[in-house]
Amino acid sequence: MKTRFHIFVVALLFVLSAASVHAVAPDGPFFYGHISDDKGPLAGAMVTFYHGKPVHSLTVFSDEQGRFLSPALPWSEGYSLRVRRVGWKDLRREKLQARPGGTKLQFQLERETDFAKVAAVMPGNYWMNLVLAEFEDDTLKREFKQQCTYCHQQGTPLTRVERSREDWEEVILDMGRRGAIITNALRERLPDYYMRAYDKAKALEKLARFQSDNGPLPVPSPQARKAVIEEWDLGGNTSNQHDVMIYPRDGSVWTVDGPIDQLHKLTLDNNPDGERTSYDVPRGDHKPGGVYWRMEKKSEAGRENNYLAPHSLQTAPDGRIWLTLPKGNQLAGFDPKTAQWDMVDLEQGINPHTLRFDAKGRLWYTITATNHVGMYNPETREQKFVRLESPDLLTAITLRLTPFFIRNAHWFDLEDRSAKMDGVSMPMPYGIDVNPVDGSVWYSQLNFRHIGRIDPDTLELDSIETPFDTPRRLRFDSKGGLWIPSYTEATLNYYQSETKSWKSWQLPIEPIGSATPYALYIDQQTDQVWICGTASDTMLRFDPVSEEFTVYPMPNRVTYTREIDFDAAGNMWTSHSNGPAWHVESGIPKVSRIDPDGAPDIEASGLFTKAATAAN
Ligand code: HEC
Repeated sequence: MKTRFHIFVVALLFVLSAASVHAVAPDGPFFYGHISDDKGPLAGAMVTFYHGKPVHSLTVFSDEQGRFLSPALPWSEGYSLRVRRVGWKDLRREKLQARPGGTKLQFQLERETDFAKVAAVMPGNYWMNLVLAEFEDDTLKREFKQQCTYCHQQGTPLTRVERSREDWEEVILDMGRRGAIITNALRERLPDYYMRAYDKAKALEKLARFQSDNGPLPVPSPQARKAVIEEWDLGGNTSNQHDVMIYPRDGSVWTVDGPIDQLHKLTLDNNPDGERTSYDVPRGDHKPGGVYWRMEKKSEAGRENNYLAPHSLQTAPDGRIWLTLPKGNQLAGFDPKTAQWDMVDLEQGINPHTLRFDAKGRLWYTITATNHVGMYNPETREQKFVRLESPDLLTAITLRLTPFFIRNAHWFDLEDRSAKMDGVSMPMPYGIDVNPVDGSVWYSQLNFRHIGRIDPDTLELDSIETPFDTPRRLRFDSKGGLWIPSYTEATLNYYQSETKSWKSWQLPIEPIGSATPYALYIDQQTDQVWICGTASDTMLRFDPVSEEFTVYPMPNRVTYTREIDFDAAGNMWTSHSNGPAWHVESGIPKVSRIDPDGAPDIEASGLFTKAATAAN
């Protein structure tokens, strides 16, 4: 009797412990279920739950067997749902309730049989690739890729409309007035290329080559499907969240909103849907257009009417947040405790761009229009400037005259002529970072195939040619290895300064070569490299040890990203900055967070065992 009871207790304990070890369903309200179509389970479908206004969304992916499982959610009411896999019709549901213990959802998606409708929702880079394919000349192709994609994606529904030659000419002139600097050679050819590329029947025929049983896009990999992607609307329908930063002292999320001269703060502490605070950056005596006001004074309706165009932001060691203001030609320090501003006029150069702090609290920044790197020491208020290398004497002279031209633009009637002028390419100092190993300051020159090193104390300059075009926002890993995206060649590049050796990887974005990686950043804890997919509505992660990429499709169409940061938990953050925002699916920019391993373990949840399925 005694032994029997003993065995019973042991058996009971075993069952209980097995249950408690294995059944780790999310603790709180959540959703789970299956996605299929008429042929069976559908892998890699994006299952997105929306909550609140401004909107907060959470996306998980379905696995090989069509199963999905959300993490525990903060609310039990008020969710709406979208299930998406390109090639199938979007499925939407409203007013869903998430129950503790889980709300089960089961959906069958309908395959989209009209390929025109499938093609209509393929990411912009597939459509842009049709234009790229028209180019015979590589130099012009690069020029197009660079000058026509730095504000917005090409190939989005509003940009790829069939137009007459006259209409294309007019659009291209308008883009010139807005800032696209193109040569006459490109201006002459581009309308024909567009007309041929976007001839509807031919375009569909070419895009149909990507179509398969899996739809037109690659199925997200098992690694990518482990991610949870969360997004928060931020700003309005004329906003543009250019850069994003996690405030190291409290984990709050900050962005700069260029078109409306604001700094935004998003906190999740008290409300997971986000609390948003906006601060006006002081415009001082500036006119609309800032230092460019004489070039912009005849601006038409619909043009940006900002004075400062805040661009980048970083936290100083003392906890203040510093911004670059390209149009204001200023640096701005903001104290999050007092909301006080400290405005600093540049003593030299025009168009401050990207900034980083070094370990001594000095602020280093690129100055794009005049080919400088600047240094500002907030403690002593000292400013220093390093003039960077120029490709040739004529460019060097032009660069020296640039401030004069900008200040006296009214003499030259630049407003009208700039739209038709034969564009000349200036070196454009772009990305900047500080080597964590020796404190040296490194920059890239976007149009000059060069990167360079500045000694922070002597300001001695060492300029290095890159084996690729358009080095954009570069960054160091924790060991002093330098990572650089090539914007037009769609490659990831690595430079080891001790051995002066280069390595390069093609980004695995279809169609190959159509990506425009704007920025990258390396998680200093793990040395994983994260890259902006920019043209293709993706984010990429690269593991330098296995040399493998993971591609994360982003849930919102026209996700144009330019900067990355990480929070203390190792999540990646990016912000959306397609200008104009009205070309974006949601119409409003977002900040996005990817938790690469955030999806709960489907097997371990105990929700999909035969018994659990039968019980339901
Ligand atoms: C300086 C930023 C900027 C650059 C660079 C730029 N665009 Fe635009 N583009 C815009 C804005 C802003 C709009 C929205 C205009 C509107 O709706 O009034 C736009 C809209 C468009 C549209 C849609 C026009 C319409 O009528 O809806 C096309 C097509 C386009 N751009 C093509 C181009 C091409 C081609 C280039 C390169 C020559 C280019 N863009 C470079 C800012 C830019």
